[in-house]
Amino acid sequence: RVVEWSLESASKGGYPHFMLKEIHEQPRALVDTLYGLSSDPTLREASKIMAEARRVFITAAGTSYHASLHFAVALSKIAGVLATPFVASEYEAYLPVVREGDVLIAVSQSGETMDTLKAARAFKERGAKLIAVSNVVDSAIPRESDIALYTRAGPEIGVAATKTFTTQTLLLSFLVLDYALLRGAILKSEYDEYARELSRASDLAAKSIAWSEGLAKKVSEMLRLKQSMYYLSRGVGLPTAMEGALKIKELAYIHAESYPAGESKHGPIALVEEGFPVVFVVPRDVYYEKVLLGNIQEMKARGAWIIGVAPEDTSLGEQFDLFFRVPSSHWLTTPITHTPPMQLLAYYTSTLKGYDPDKPRNLAKTVTVE
Ligand code: AGP
Repeated sequence: RVVEWSLESASKGGYPHFMLKEIHEQPRALVDTLYGLSSDPTLREASKIMAEARRVFITAAGTSYHASLHFAVALSKIAGVLATPFVASEYEAYLPVVREGDVLIAVSQSGETMDTLKAARAFKERGAKLIAVSNVVDSAIPRESDIALYTRAGPEIGVAATKTFTTQTLLLSFLVLDYALLRGAILKSEYDEYARELSRASDLAAKSIAWSEGLAKKVSEMLRLKQSMYYLSRGVGLPTAMEGALKIKELAYIHAESYPAGESKHGPIALVEEGFPVVFVVPRDVYYEKVLLGNIQEMKARGAWIIGVAPEDTSLGEQFDLFFRVPSSHWLTTPITHTPPMQLLAYYTSTLKGYDPDKPRNLAKTVTVE
């Protein structure tokens, strides 16, 4: 299967850009990652290391950091354990608290990001155990780790991470489940229920892509002249909103900020004026629908243009000026259902503005310098 991927990745497979091809490859990348996890004893070995650790840290850069944040949210909600996520280039700030036996999960699709490699080495020097999560077998970070878990997304050529993000969140969600089961935080029956939801990943991604591509093209026409926008959510939706903001920045060069929606009244809302685009990532969760309603209304009162990315059965549908419907599924699959519309929005806005989404200005696929 690895050989298949490498031959295929060399060509765009009929797509205009590698990025669009790789967005559409997500259903297959997710099923391959799922297949790989189902028979991988390393997952349980990683859970054991986590279970013996005094503290669980997780680090990465860029998109991989957003996947790490999803892991931290899921670990807290499902296992009742707090992980410490941090941006890899900020690792020095965390060294004073690292002790023998702590564990650091280093997430890097390339496995070569210098910031993440340096953080991993520094933690290892202080006696921490290392778990690598990567998409490239035997790359630098897995080579220096105690354990390596691999997504099976296949080579990602486009500079912007797409299929590697959704497959990272799938793998990390399974790590949370296995750890929670091992620690007795959830029953086997609960594990099976979560696992059943995650095993829908490929189908959920396929539907999300199919349902949103046409609207993404239309909305990109309206976004092209915008200078700035917000990507808001709360709780479990926030890592995914942050990923959406990064995509529109790095591909269409539109400034986009993502922050917890409840923070709006503490300053950011001052920026909002008539027609200011605000994307709301609404996870499938009654509580979040309730609190996000208030945040949407405060934005609408100031003339914001509300773009909703929400489950098809949300109660907030009529609040949106534009509604990216995504398949209704468990909150744990939010990155898988809600990210494709924002990937497509960034892609079509980039091409509409005449940019090359495979090679965004000033960016490299892998940042092997500090
Ligand atoms: C995301 O679209 C970018 N390509 C970038 O932020 C990337 O996620 C980051 O450089 C981390 O790369 P890695 O996963 O290979 O470590």
